[in-house]
Amino acid sequence: MTDSQRSAKLDIEGQTLDLPIMSPTLGPDVIDVSKLYGQGKVFTFDPGFTSTASCESKITFIDGNKGELLHRGYPIDQLAEKSHYLEVCYLLLYGELPSADQLEHFENRVTMHTMLHEQMMNFFRGFRRDAHPMAIMTGVVGALSAFYHDSLDISDPWQREVASIRMIAKLPTIAAYAFKYSVGQPFVYPRNDLDYASNFLRMCFAVPAEDYEVNPILSRAMDRIFTLHADHEQNASTSTVRLAGSSGANPFACIAAGIACLWGPAHGGANQACLEMLEEIGSVERIPEYIDRAKDKDDPFRLMGFGHRVYKNFDPRAMVMKKSADEVLSLLGVENNPKLQVAKELERIALEDEYFASKKLFPNVDFYSGIILEAMGFPTSMFTPIFAVSRTIGWISQWKEMIDEGNVKIGRPRQLYTGETNRDYVDVEKR
Ligand code: SDX
Repeated sequence: MTDSQRSAKLDIEGQTLDLPIMSPTLGPDVIDVSKLYGQGKVFTFDPGFTSTASCESKITFIDGNKGELLHRGYPIDQLAEKSHYLEVCYLLLYGELPSADQLEHFENRVTMHTMLHEQMMNFFRGFRRDAHPMAIMTGVVGALSAFYHDSLDISDPWQREVASIRMIAKLPTIAAYAFKYSVGQPFVYPRNDLDYASNFLRMCFAVPAEDYEVNPILSRAMDRIFTLHADHEQNASTSTVRLAGSSGANPFACIAAGIACLWGPAHGGANQACLEMLEEIGSVERIPEYIDRAKDKDDPFRLMGFGHRVYKNFDPRAMVMKKSADEVLSLLGVENNPKLQVAKELERIALEDEYFASKKLFPNVDFYSGIILEAMGFPTSMFTPIFAVSRTIGWISQWKEMIDEGNVKIGRPRQLYTGETNRDYVDVEKR
């Protein structure tokens, strides 16, 4: 959406360029620099994309200063309280909250795609038992394109739709199978009579030797965790999916690329790293030592679960997650969980500390999620896979938005080259 009357003037050593200013519905204006190199023969330079909008989107809006997160205009705290994950999937994918009939039809479509092609089981058995579940998920999700040939053609809207439904439906099954494989238990097939979160919990924790009843407290907590991680604007893994999609890669390959990026401890891997950090701190008495390390420029240690590129206020998801942690742990009778006590005290001390206050470092979505997941019985290695299951709808919705727009240009950034200038080859005898 370009505001034709407004432009930014850029003076480049006597040459003045008029760069159009584009107006958003929410958030900062953007300056369209797409013609900058053609007109001014210069590039912009923004490693980490701290001031760069990579695309136009209508899906998610974040106001980092207010600590606000909207999905198609709906605040995350309202969705977490009143909606549920598959309804949020529908909202992200199609742009509006569904009617009762639309929701029932969508949930039935997802339910009918939760099973994996039986031959895919061989993939899991090819990994070592101690393989990280994220390694397995990256491989198996990419391999979906070897089995579902009827949803690879991205030029066909119907195939794009089928691929989207398949991934929403199959990611929980793949994550659960990766978990079962890592603990040496048999795979548990999905069931059509369970809701999304209950199905996932049963595939993770049921064993053939006895019946498994889903605890409704855990199912609700699981669904809320899925909802809170569903999408988050142009984060690193979503940008990875968009860039992969811009080359025309099939949707399964694009999501596998997103999973690989999410794995990093600076991104989705932070929930596992945060719980391991709380375990290492061990007691409230040791918190000052770690706060000092986090502030020490010469120490690479960072407070996992703290800080965010966009939020310079509380991450609204962390607020909901903290409330959910209190509820779930007290309902499970483990409110005195030492890690929760350490986490709360760590948050209190950090928020009072000038270093964190001056850098606007607040707890993010990963700070409390691990405490809930551990209380639910998951090992830390399953925390990021669960994030990946949830974020699949965000990746798919953003990928679909890009492809639906048509005329997708391949993403191809330039660089600031500071290497050697042109020079002739030197034979080895003369070196
Ligand atoms: C997610 O982008 C998204 O939306 C991501 C996400 C999503 O839903 O997709 O929200 C999910 O990835 C949440 C973030 C999870 N990661 C962590 O919790 C890891 C710990 N956090 C940091 O690694 C860091 O805060 C980042 C990576 C999250 C943000 O990094 P930025 O924006 O690039 O900030 P920075 O690294 O430039 O830090 C700014 C300053 C630096 O100090 P100076 O060099 O200016 O002196 O703050 C310091 C940093 O050293 N700092 C921290 C810190 N985070 C930043 N110091 C101590 N502990 C921290 N956690």
